[in-house]
Amino acid sequence: MSSSTRAALAWLVVLVISFTSCDAAVKPWACTSVCSSNALQPQPANCQQDCPDDVCNPQLADIRGELLVLALGSHGKTGDVTPSGERPSVCCSECQAAEFCNLWRWCSSPVGCGQPGECTRYMQSMRYNSLLPYQRFGPANNKTCTADGRWRQGMCSLMLVQSPADANYKSQGPSSGFVSGMIAAKLQAASGCPVGLTAAACSLCLATKNPASCFSLMMRTYEFQPQNPIPASLAAVCANMSSPKLVATCMWCRTRDATCTSQVLLRHADNQAAAEAAVKCVLAFRQGEVASLATCSK
Ligand SMILES: *[C@@H]1O[C@H](CO)[C@@H](O)[C@H](O)[C@H]1NC(C)=O
Ligand SMILES: *[C@@H]1O[C@H](CO)[C@@H](O)[C@H](O)[C@H]1NC(C)=O
Repeated sequence: MSSSTRAALAWLVVLVISFTSCDAAVKPWACTSVCSSNALQPQPANCQQDCPDDVCNPQLADIRGELLVLALGSHGKTGDVTPSGERPSVCCSECQAAEFCNLWRWCSSPVGCGQPGECTRYMQSMRYNSLLPYQRFGPANNKTCTADGRWRQGMCSLMLVQSPADANYKSQGPSSGFVSGMIAAKLQAASGCPVGLTAAACSLCLATKNPASCFSLMMRTYEFQPQNPIPASLAAVCANMSSPKLVATCMWCRTRDATCTSQVLLRHADNQAAAEAAVKCVLAFRQGEVASLATCSK
């Protein structure tokens, strides 16, 4: 072996070692310390570092896309939150699981994230309290913005970008306090479907009479109550209704009225004909021909 080959090999070894250790090293700015709640005083022994999975590609940046869920933990999804907010590992895993989520953003800074006043101004501008997507804080957390109007530490947002080029970098580096990441596998569109839809949901929708409505409902199927899950297939049931008016009514029921979803739609999630009859009743209710929604839940 020549000395130059040996030198090159030595460099290669150094490179491999430094890459490996870099990969394996935790990115401390992407992590938070989670302490067991029954500890009176958080002791290091009661605390663990919680970090997002590498597959979520954490970067020190404020990256934005189309908003799906503003603040995951404010909806009180059990097990996902710490006293100060969502855990970064959960922010990552929920984005992996949620239809259309391929960009997540988590506030790591104890003093809050973004510019002073940013959170307050946003909340004042959001007059419409949409059920889905969730553009406001949920009911489980009334501590919305920090005293100086920033986003609180621990806030986790779920978002969608059409491609990495579509990602809006509001800032890079530590200045905003945000950690964001894109999930590579969910930046690819399955054939015939929009970016961010999982392969399973894609094939379910493509088999319906109205794939576009099905896609649109799938984007709005993120749920906060795992103890009372709403099957994603409801989107396909709505999309399979026999007239555009019934499709629209079914979508209204699913996205605008939680009672209609749980008391009417959910009862017939596995029976297209029964679901269609129930949605006809909801349409009559909305047109004032049926006195109460409860009539439609039989
Ligand atoms: C916020 O929640 C706390 C209890 O967690 C309660 O004491 C307080 O009144 C609430 N504030 C508002 C404005 O609802
Ligand atoms: C929707 O209807 C198609 C036939 O038009 C059917 O193959 C498909 O299974 C239906 N999907 C659901 C979820 O009922």
